[in-house]
Amino acid sequence: SEHTATVDERLLSICEVLESNVPYYNWVGFYFRNGDKEELKLGPYVGAPTDHTIIPFGKGICGQVAVSNQNFVVPDVSAQDNYIACSMTVKAEIVVPIFVNGENIGQIDIDSNTPDPFSEEDERFLEFVCTQVASLL
Ligand code: SME
Repeated sequence: SEHTATVDERLLSICEVLESNVPYYNWVGFYFRNGDKEELKLGPYVGAPTDHTIIPFGKGICGQVAVSNQNFVVPDVSAQDNYIACSMTVKAEIVVPIFVNGENIGQIDIDSNTPDPFSEEDERFLEFVCTQVASLL
């Protein structure tokens, strides 16, 4: 039968491909601005379920990226004071914003169980992923 994947199905596929192909990408998900509220809402993800389905702007690594419009690479989450722990196994995190018409509308968030795994190559790659995501929204 005719089947066109929905946006959420496509976003989930991106999470699955990333998580299953990069050994140090252990939780991969999307957060998006929740309407006109100053908060993020969890979108499609792969990995351990999280209680943090809503994150206020400014809170945690994700909330800081919602405000800064910049990549945030965290080599050691235990060294961060403004950090929201989702799982005890997580050692590092990277968050890259998604821009639509120059506006920060969400982000990809990746947690790693490996200490200090993320390089500039990850940043450039995830920036590319985010431009592709922006074009499918
Ligand atoms: N650690 C994030 C919260 C989201 S979980 O990683 C899925 C943060 O500090 O914003």
